Amino acid sequence: MAGPILRDLLPDTTDISSGEHTLIGGCDLLDLAHEFGTPLFVYDEAHLRSRCREAVEAFDGNVAYATKAFLCTEMARLAYQEGMSLDVATGGELYIARKADVPGERIVMHGNNKSFEELDMALRENVGRIVVDSFNELDRLEELCADLNKSTKVLLRVTPGVEAHTHEFVSTGQEDSKFGFTVRSGVAEEAVERTRSSKYLELLGLHAHIGSQVFDVQPFAKAVGVLAEFAAPYDFPELVVGGGLGVPYVEGESAPSIQEWADAIFDACEKAGVKSSVGSEPGRSIVASAAVTLYTVGTIKEVPDHRTYVAVDGGMSDNPRPALYGSGYETFLPRSNQAERQNSVRLVGKHCESGDVLIKEAWVPEDLSVGDILATPVTGAYGHSMGSNYNQMLRPAVVFVLDGSPRLVIARESYEDLVRRDI
Ligand code: LLP
Repeated sequence: MAGPILRDLLPDTTDISSGEHTLIGGCDLLDLAHEFGTPLFVYDEAHLRSRCREAVEAFDGNVAYATKAFLCTEMARLAYQEGMSLDVATGGELYIARKADVPGERIVMHGNNKSFEELDMALRENVGRIVVDSFNELDRLEELCADLNKSTKVLLRVTPGVEAHTHEFVSTGQEDSKFGFTVRSGVAEEAVERTRSSKYLELLGLHAHIGSQVFDVQPFAKAVGVLAEFAAPYDFPELVVGGGLGVPYVEGESAPSIQEWADAIFDACEKAGVKSSVGSEPGRSIVASAAVTLYTVGTIKEVPDHRTYVAVDGGMSDNPRPALYGSGYETFLPRSNQAERQNSVRLVGKHCESGDVLIKEAWVPEDLSVGDILATPVTGAYGHSMGSNYNQMLRPAVVFVLDGSPRLVIARESYEDLVRRDI
């Protein structure tokens, strides 16, 4: 038995007080499902803008939105309008950021295996910083700079040897990692020397990202300590601490705010005597709880002595996180958001495998019926961006809602899209 869905898990402008229907950005979720179809990602634009502003303020403008969490041209524009730079990790993300007219100098290029083509693109687009991840990349970058007769500003990605206490797949600060130069082994020192001796590379400082969905600020403070000690002899002007701040997905979880996260980082910097400017790259904490996904219930099947399966018209192709990381979610009925949720069911998708589970134990009202619209909150990060066409499912549409008006920012895929690249 569970009570009505917790307000804390819903986007800022969610209105669950006026009548039974749920409104976000002044738009009735049932109307949105009707107008745009399901599955549908609904983002609260005011919520997105407010998290961007909070981050910009908390980090004195030294903050890049990690586009991998959710990206389309409209999202890139929005983050940039609100004063953020953009962190991109591939040529594709860089392409979208530039398509949105984000100036190259406000883009930071990441990646543990950037190709010649990607580095060439980054140099031609004059990206503000390239975060160098390996010696092979240093070779490639110097060769390209020489060819183009161009210099570029770089940060070195280092692994501080700090455990972030998160899922193994999203933990990156430990030494045994595919990312960056390890501090303790002396490799990072060698990378610093090598970069400083380059004619083309201007080394501005260090970058670290310890992991993602981290609830505790302590590992960030610890990483700052390691970075500060390592950087002390060099007098770098910049230090970037990555992203990683966690968000609550289910009842009972809680996370620091962006401001609290920043305060902890700045405190640690002060204690460690860091004099450089300090920046960050949040992704999840900007977009995750800004969105809900709407689904239509297609079948409800009771398996005697076991459980009830409720199947919706999406699944692991629009939210692979439960299957990948065992992540938990909640669900509620937008038509009666104050309803008690008495029944425990397994919420599943429509893909051809048993692992296609959205919520292992979902609490739903007793009168849940076929044809109902169900919503899962906190799907704004790493949902659409990690989505796939498995089973040739069409990737869902995305709408931004604000002041009573929805606007489509990503159209639903069509069957023609599925064969567009077939020869
Ligand atoms: N900076 C770098 C270098 C990163 O690798 C990442 C995330 C971020 C910033 C942003 O981290 P955030 O603030 O979003 O935690 N697919 C996983 C998350 C993978 C995160 C990868 N890197 C998930 O769905 O939980």
